[in-house]
Amino acid sequence: MTEQRIEALLPAPDFDTPTASEPTVLEPTEEVLEYSEDAPLADDAAYSVDAAPSVDHVAYSVEESREAALGATGRPRPRLPEPKPRTQHGDAVIIAMCNQKGGVGKTTTAINLGASLAELGRKVLVVDFDPQASLTVGLGINPNDLDTTIYHIMMEPNVELDEVVMETGIPRLHLIPSNIDFAGAEMQLMNEVAREQALARALAPAVERYDVILIDCQPSLGLLTVNALAAAAGVIIPLECEYFALRGVALLHSTILKVQERLNPKLQIVGLLGTMYDGRTLHSREVLHTLVEGWGDAVFHTVIRRTVKFSEATVVGEPLSSYASGSAGADAYRDLAKEVLARCPDA
Ligand SMILES: Nc1ncnc2c1ncn2[C@@H]1O[C@H](COP(=O)(O)OP(=O)(O)OP(=O)(O)O)[C@@H](O)[C@H]1O
Ligand SMILES: [Mg+2]
Repeated sequence: MTEQRIEALLPAPDFDTPTASEPTVLEPTEEVLEYSEDAPLADDAAYSVDAAPSVDHVAYSVEESREAALGATGRPRPRLPEPKPRTQHGDAVIIAMCNQKGGVGKTTTAINLGASLAELGRKVLVVDFDPQASLTVGLGINPNDLDTTIYHIMMEPNVELDEVVMETGIPRLHLIPSNIDFAGAEMQLMNEVAREQALARALAPAVERYDVILIDCQPSLGLLTVNALAAAAGVIIPLECEYFALRGVALLHSTILKVQERLNPKLQIVGLLGTMYDGRTLHSREVLHTLVEGWGDAVFHTVIRRTVKFSEATVVGEPLSSYASGSAGADAYRDLAKEVLARCPDA
């Protein structure tokens, strides 16, 4: 999607509408843009797991003890407060999982962050906003069996929330599913009035029933993603810890700023999340450090390591917190849930 195409999807700025006076997101520094576009990475051999280990072994052990003290992002890990229990539910904080790059962990984060927030007593709605329906499948539901999906609640005014919301196997975690029907929604929306606000309208009745609503976006910056950003108070940007992950962040950031200016002044970046991290490779560590150099404290302290357990959990249609409750991956998403609650005190 080019800049022009994104421009075309957004309404012209309305000068009467109050705009965010200060960008509420952290600006990337010059260095990260330079690095992400041009700077060469370290020699391949240095970060290949299969490479001759002579130098790397030393680096790994130094790096691992450093990580133990500082956390994978190289900053001292804060003591995260235990989230306060909720006595009543409602007034949900809506957070979109967003990155136009595919396969970076958006869906995995929606499932596992959702389940961890539910474990912490939050009432959580996860919204599958992708016709690929990975979130629906990942929570154990066959998309082909569904009569009503996100498509219907967004495109058909008479469909009620209750007709679409499904329970999952996890207490307090509910789902609005998707399937391939949703693929036509973007084209159809093009001709609608206030086409960017269709999701916000559809989710309005859910806001009073849930504490957190997580939207799992598709890998694109098209009109549907703009709808998610227009409905949300926050964005989480999952990024695979590899070089190409850094390249698209500037474009995503400029889209977020445009939505913030023209449609949704309350939109903020909750955090950037390093995923599929492998601390044994210099490459993963460099990418994470570059991310922190550029985005500072916007990068979550929690980092999600690469483990096959996430793919296994998808096959059985469960979050890791129920498939492998004691695993490091499940604990990482529990930490992320606490970090998200610390950053979004209303959730
Ligand atoms: N930390 C991880 N370690 C290993 N594999 C992972 C991890 N996180 C996600 N995966 C796997 O990577 C694949 C892509 O993850 P996921 O579907 O969450 O990405 P996505 O950003 O939602 O993709 P898309 O853009 O296609 O929607 C999946 O097979 C998932 O199981
Ligand atoms: Mg996905």
